[in-house]
Amino acid sequence: MPLSKYTLSNSKEERGAYGRIVDETKNAILSSFSDDSAFSGIDPLSLRKDVQSISLLDDEGLGFDGTLSLVKEKIMPHLLRTWSKSYMPHLHSPALLESLSAEMIISAFNDSLDSWDQGPAATEIEVMVIKGLLELFGFDSEKGDGAFTSGGSQSNLTAIIAARDKYINKNSNWDVKKRGLPEGYDRLRLYTSEISHFSMDKSAHIAGLGYDAVRHIPVNEKCQVNISAFERMLREDTDNGLKPFLAVATLGTTDFGSIDDVEGMKVLCEKYGMQLHLDAAYGSALILSDKEKHRLGNVSLADSITIDFHKMFLLPISCSAILFKNEEDLDPFLLHADYLNREEDEEDGYINLVGKGIQTTRRFDALKVLFSFKARGKKEYGRIIEKSLKNAEYVYRRLSEDPDFIVPVKPELSSVVFALRGGDDLNRRVRRSLLNEGTVIGQTVKDSLVMLKLTLLNPNIEHEDLDSLINRIKDLK
Ligand SMILES: Cc1ncc(COP(=O)(O)O)c(C=O)c1O
Repeated sequence: MPLSKYTLSNSKEERGAYGRIVDETKNAILSSFSDDSAFSGIDPLSLRKDVQSISLLDDEGLGFDGTLSLVKEKIMPHLLRTWSKSYMPHLHSPALLESLSAEMIISAFNDSLDSWDQGPAATEIEVMVIKGLLELFGFDSEKGDGAFTSGGSQSNLTAIIAARDKYINKNSNWDVKKRGLPEGYDRLRLYTSEISHFSMDKSAHIAGLGYDAVRHIPVNEKCQVNISAFERMLREDTDNGLKPFLAVATLGTTDFGSIDDVEGMKVLCEKYGMQLHLDAAYGSALILSDKEKHRLGNVSLADSITIDFHKMFLLPISCSAILFKNEEDLDPFLLHADYLNREEDEEDGYINLVGKGIQTTRRFDALKVLFSFKARGKKEYGRIIEKSLKNAEYVYRRLSEDPDFIVPVKPELSSVVFALRGGDDLNRRVRRSLLNEGTVIGQTVKDSLVMLKLTLLNPNIEHEDLDSLINRIKDLK
């Protein structure tokens, strides 16, 4: 098909062209795989050579068919198939089927969330979804607010900037937005566990505080913040003139899925005048299971919460939200631009969401949450989450009973970290061998030992699949 048509429109030809593009693309995707493996197993050097043989921009285009053929031949065979039951290294999930429909709608319309006139229904839906999420996590939806972001890292950064400004504005009577950071800001300290996500350190740097502002609290044997060590650290730091402004509890650590004690940390936050942020990027999906949500603790005690829908909620990238108990905490991000978010329009009821976060142009990711919540309902969604937890329990039980394995931590969510007895090189080699066979599992380090990791987000995984994988790992020993 020559690309004589530019965009979707109401003309018969362009409607037809869109229909054909969607059909052909669907056919190309479906014919690009014929087994259940996660990955072609190609080595990086061969793949790089193949990719570099593609020129980026030629004088004459290939048209839609030519380009789709090129992508089908050179790229699609080596894309990672996240839906494969052999893919379990990271908190990177397959997408629920119905969410692929939501993605099509999002990209076809291409609405943006910065101003009402760029996404009328998109804006109203995001506001409605944020309100619903506030209620789901126990916040007062009249007082709280939030926004969708590109991911957990950006949600955490948003929370850290908000907490920094709130603390300084309150304690130093200083407008950070206008005047930047005041003298003495290098004494501000953020407390989080030694195994929290690296976006804490990255955010502290971006927020002008630096890595040294992050105090990493030791964890206990369950990989949770050690509350007594936290209190000791706070006592010493305040004695030394440092200023604790924020504690971050992780509800689902990246490797172990461990969940910090929200209530215990809140007590210290109150005592030392700190705010409490929850990095629930991983564990937030437990809120959908009436049976399992108690594991999160009392999340409504927090000032802010990071939720990632592109992890355990199984929605396509990108899809994350940051929620605040008090809507004023989003003030650092509000700035009026004549071309975009005029105050006169806002007085007349037009909502411009650009003032709620870091991004300007922003995707309508809230539709994916609405779509899957409506399609599945809480009960079925909850069962999906519970299945991941049960699979992790099953693997933990099997490996703990097998003398060939070391399993250092009982899983709280859907990840199991373990090692074959026999040393670091053996474990590294096993992971590489599996990768070459098209099975992708994770690798990390615990107590200086190389460990393997299964992140069991895929609800299609059954016990037989796990048995086969465990047997294959043992064969590779
Ligand atoms: C606990 C935790 N927080 C934050 C993040 C960052 O999320 P994202 O990759 O969506 O930026 C991750 C990523 O794995 C995570 O595990």
